[in-house]
Amino acid sequence: MFTFTELRLLCAESIFLKYSGYFLPLLLFILTKYVWKRFACSSANAARIQKEVIDTSNNIQTDATNDEIIEDEYRPHLPELEHVAYRGLIEWLDKSGDKFFKLANDRRSIRKFAKNKHVDIEVIEKCILAAGTSPSGAHTEPWTFCVIQDALIKQEIREIIEAEEYLNYSQRMSRQWTTDLRPLKTDFIKEYLTDAPYLIIVFKQVYGIRSDGMKQQHYYNEISVSIATGILLCALQSAGLNSLVTTPLNCGPAIRNLLNRPQNEKLLVLLPVGYAADDCCVPDLQRKSLNDIMVTY
Ligand SMILES: Cc1cc2nc3c(=O)[nH]c(=O)nc-3n(C[C@H](O)[C@H](O)[C@H](O)COP(=O)(O)O)c2cc1C
Repeated sequence: MFTFTELRLLCAESIFLKYSGYFLPLLLFILTKYVWKRFACSSANAARIQKEVIDTSNNIQTDATNDEIIEDEYRPHLPELEHVAYRGLIEWLDKSGDKFFKLANDRRSIRKFAKNKHVDIEVIEKCILAAGTSPSGAHTEPWTFCVIQDALIKQEIREIIEAEEYLNYSQRMSRQWTTDLRPLKTDFIKEYLTDAPYLIIVFKQVYGIRSDGMKQQHYYNEISVSIATGILLCALQSAGLNSLVTTPLNCGPAIRNLLNRPQNEKLLVLLPVGYAADDCCVPDLQRKSLNDIMVTY
């Protein structure tokens, strides 16, 4: 044990106590800096996650290089999921694949629709439900299908598209492009937009909005929505309906505004859907043979 005198001597000689006027502010400074850094890092991290969402329109995302990422900031968009036994297929057409090939092979792009042949909305709903079974990057389901029956809206869409397509055909598309389209006999007049009983406008959601208002990354959204659209085409075909895939160049923002769709939705394709008119003609196209499209190893 120290005697009182020894303790006094120790205190008098203690460098820490002697220079406490310097040490204490330094300690306080280090502490404040640490707390500030944690706070700034957390907000920067949240901002960075959001930036990643915005920056990755091409869907390629590298791992973060910032050492100071706080792992807790990352949360999966899905809840933690139980994995259950796969029950297997319950329905199939035929095991040879022949029926589906015949069905798909009959599909043609129709540019002349019967004006007055009614199609039940329930059929369209079922086909869209089928499209919604599509796989999607990280199960983000980045699609919105807008179904338009209203004659006035169809007319407005036609006006938007015909005005743009006039410019596309006359000024914007390359000479080669319009030449390639010549055998298909397409032009800027789009009667099918008002004749078809339904227009299905497929939007890709380039990002999602989480319940807390933060943006949610939609990986490979264009590929996912294109696959869903393929399933939709097959579903429509299997219900005896005709359709046409169209990609109205430069019309996306105007149609999005007309339909009051949010900023994160971009028009991918527009499909008129209904029954082909009795006098509908299609170009006599040939499709590539299996040998041309499949390579076995
Ligand atoms: C991505 C894509 C975009 C297309 N854009 C248009 C279009 O804007 N207007 C049009 O009349 N047809 C369009 N088509 C239809 C093609 O011209 C048609 O699929 C092709 O000529 C083959 O004919 P088929 O569908 O009868 O087999 C498009 C098809 C695809 C897949």
